[in-house]
Amino acid sequence: MNAAADPVDPTTTEAWSRLTKIASGFEPDLRRWFADDPDRVGRLTFDAADLHVDLSKALVDDVVLAALLALAGEVGLEARRDAMFRGEHINVTEDRAVLHTALRLPADAAPGDRPGVGGQDVVRDVHDVLRRVYEFADRVRSGEWTGVTGERIRTVVNIGIGGSDLGPVMAYEALAAYRQEGLECRFISNIDPTDAATTLAGLDPATTLFIVASKTFGTLETLTNARLCRSWLLDGLPDTDPTDAVARHFVAVSTALDKVADFGIDPENAFGFWDWVGGRYSVDSAIGTSLVIAIGPVRFAELLAGFHAMDEHFRTADLAQNVPVLMGLLNVWYTNFLGAQTHAVLPYSQLLHRFPAYLQQLTMESNGKSVRWDGMAVTTDTGEVFWGEPGTNGQHAFYQLIHQGTRLIPADFIAFANPAYPLVDAHDGQRTDVHEVFLANFFAQTRALAFGKTADEVRAEGTAEAIVPARVFPGNRPTASIMAPALTPSVLGQLVALYEHITFTEGTVWGIDSFDQWGVELGKQLAQQIAPAVAGDVEVAAAQDASTRALIDYYRRHRS
Ligand code: F6P
Repeated sequence: MNAAADPVDPTTTEAWSRLTKIASGFEPDLRRWFADDPDRVGRLTFDAADLHVDLSKALVDDVVLAALLALAGEVGLEARRDAMFRGEHINVTEDRAVLHTALRLPADAAPGDRPGVGGQDVVRDVHDVLRRVYEFADRVRSGEWTGVTGERIRTVVNIGIGGSDLGPVMAYEALAAYRQEGLECRFISNIDPTDAATTLAGLDPATTLFIVASKTFGTLETLTNARLCRSWLLDGLPDTDPTDAVARHFVAVSTALDKVADFGIDPENAFGFWDWVGGRYSVDSAIGTSLVIAIGPVRFAELLAGFHAMDEHFRTADLAQNVPVLMGLLNVWYTNFLGAQTHAVLPYSQLLHRFPAYLQQLTMESNGKSVRWDGMAVTTDTGEVFWGEPGTNGQHAFYQLIHQGTRLIPADFIAFANPAYPLVDAHDGQRTDVHEVFLANFFAQTRALAFGKTADEVRAEGTAEAIVPARVFPGNRPTASIMAPALTPSVLGQLVALYEHITFTEGTVWGIDSFDQWGVELGKQLAQQIAPAVAGDVEVAAAQDASTRALIDYYRRHRS
């Protein structure tokens, strides 16, 4: 099979017809399924690397599962997966290989496992850059790398947006327990000048290092913020030579090293990556330099090993036991057959508070498409909306709708057996492990969503008949429970890779190129065109549509 050239229309497959038939009149009954099948949990719980994934509360029975696996076979999921790992150009619209999995291959990977791009041994290239990043990070961490005045670096500011920001921020937050003391990372992404202003507030230019992270080194937001930061630095260090100051306080990460040099950053202080790494798949490339400085090379290598462990599971496990494949197929079932439009990700871990935001780019920039990789229109819905907040905060905000609303919202719950910061509440002679109270909420929520509460159960509590309906929980709200011993660097890598491969699985079923992002281009072009009108160019303003003209006019009248 030519994996790049032949999307299979999923709706023409035998499995799709079967799923359509099953879905009409499908009446999920998790209470009955659990009662009738004592082995349900055993059969639908899977271990992938360190992740323990319970899919027993999903809205599937054996018949649905068999049809979903048949669908994976008919659309050629395994062939496309293998083509990705081999480095074929499955990113058709950009004519590129898709090899984020090569970023985490061990240096001594067997020859058969080392994809080549244009005759280059990518594993060797990856490890050459990693070595440079690690050396640099060690110099910053040890204080050997100093600012232009000779002081050691105390704050690293990553300037980037999208994949050049969300991954590093998410992982920096997630691995807070592994950070080096006395060395803080901050992140500037938004072109709203407030972001730079508030992020730089209180920082000392002499002890601040900037990392300009941009795959293309052409992104307006990042270059604007980099220039702002350069001015801030030079204004704050008036007695130093500007070239020396930039050389000591600015490094870059990019695939466009020529543009890095044009900006004035010494190519010696630039770390490269490659066009076969998508921005939203790049946290484990040199884009993670801020993270390497924060947690150190040893921990970063553990993160990469975690990614690789999940890659190996995805690459080699039988589809019926393959967690990313199963979770991706379940999402197709919910989206295309049961009418779900969104998908909640609910980490019971405060440290994962940026994980849903990270997943929004990963999943929606990847699968928010309406044409297939052969240019034809897709034949079914694609790209559900991913969203979420950490538990238990979400419980007191939007869980009401998940429990009792009219929409089906599949939800992934994520929790860890051991907290990063074990705290015990001791008072009145009682000791309460707060993490256990937290986990009780995790278990309670997935149980309530699955099994609900019947009218009879509500009545049995003595509830007045008039309000019984309001207190009934219908149940049969699908969840996946993902647990691991602790949120280590390796486990974080496994989690991210899990969602990368879920995204791949869904994209393959839909026949879409999950690795381009043309949908962000139009807004970028128009912003460039409109900018002069905002600044007062009457002719450009007049050329806009009536609504845009009026909004610009409002701005011009109200600006102080
Ligand atoms: O938003 C579009 C996008 O191209 C993302 O895919 C990417 O992660 C982000 O912009 C930043 O791009 P760059 O790293 O090239 O600055």
